[in-house]
Amino acid sequence: MSSAHPKVYLISGASRGIGYALIEQISQRPNHIVYAAARDPTNAVALNKLAELRPGAVKVVKLVAGSEEDAKLIMAQVRSAEGHLDVVLAVSGVALWQHYAPVKDCTNESIMEHFNTNLIGTVSLYRNAYPLLKAAPRGAIFMPMSSTMASITKAGEYAFPLCGLSMSKASINMLVRNIHLESEEEGFIVFPMDPGWTQTDNGNGNAKACGMSEAPTKLEDTIAGVLKVLDAAKRETHGGVFLNYRGEVMPW
Ligand SMILES: NC(=O)c1ccc[n+]([C@@H]2O[C@H](COP(=O)([O-])OP(=O)(O)OC[C@H]3O[C@@H](n4cnc5c(N)ncnc54)[C@H](OP(=O)(O)O)[C@@H]3O)[C@@H](O)[C@H]2O)c1
Repeated sequence: MSSAHPKVYLISGASRGIGYALIEQISQRPNHIVYAAARDPTNAVALNKLAELRPGAVKVVKLVAGSEEDAKLIMAQVRSAEGHLDVVLAVSGVALWQHYAPVKDCTNESIMEHFNTNLIGTVSLYRNAYPLLKAAPRGAIFMPMSSTMASITKAGEYAFPLCGLSMSKASINMLVRNIHLESEEEGFIVFPMDPGWTQTDNGNGNAKACGMSEAPTKLEDTIAGVLKVLDAAKRETHGGVFLNYRGEVMPW
């Protein structure tokens, strides 16, 4: 890649877990710039340290999922500094394992919390990023984090009734199909990613709620897999396809 054209990423959920680990890896690559979007940048200690270590490669920005104001400020900053976005990864999300309940017992508040962060946060990020993705060379990527629990085909294979999570992640999959079909002219590469049951606060919290000591998938394996998929992504092969971190096609 020519030094005149850095590859520009925007990644949400940057403070910890999968989002932080992706930023840590991507920002090591020469000529890559990552806008690292955290809900509360002042308390994102590790992220701020990384930005200090890699000035120019990691730029910390604020994004509360679904905040139009935050998203607009980020896009204005990216537009004036870079002019485009090559890759947007919508990683921020919640899985409120404290709310495990079958549908007959789950609350509207719990369902809305999952939908607000997981779905509305992702829609808002895409809508605001659209002009900058369009301004990129053809083949800009938008990849939201989905989950095995989004798969209607696989429902019943997991033991826990986390209806707010599964419904909100299934809605992300439909969102992605819509964006894929709408963006043929723009040539966007849009697909949902199942990162596997990964050793993060989220994944380990779920594992403990199921009586396990930790989640089965190492964070480094998830990150290596997700990056391999991203690096190979083409609209013809990946666009509108539900993929996991091993690059396998997941059933809807
Ligand atoms: N780990 C797994 O096993 C697994 C499996 C399937 C899918 N996923 C998905 O992968 C993504 C990353 O998960 P993870 O395991 O890395 O989770 P994590 O360690 O719990 O990190 C979640 C991230 O999302 C951010 N976030 C949560 N609510 C937010 C809000 N309202 N506004 C802005 N940011 C918010 C958190 O910010 P704060 O630090 O400010 O809270 C944090 O950066 C999520 O979308 C998750 O659903 C994970």
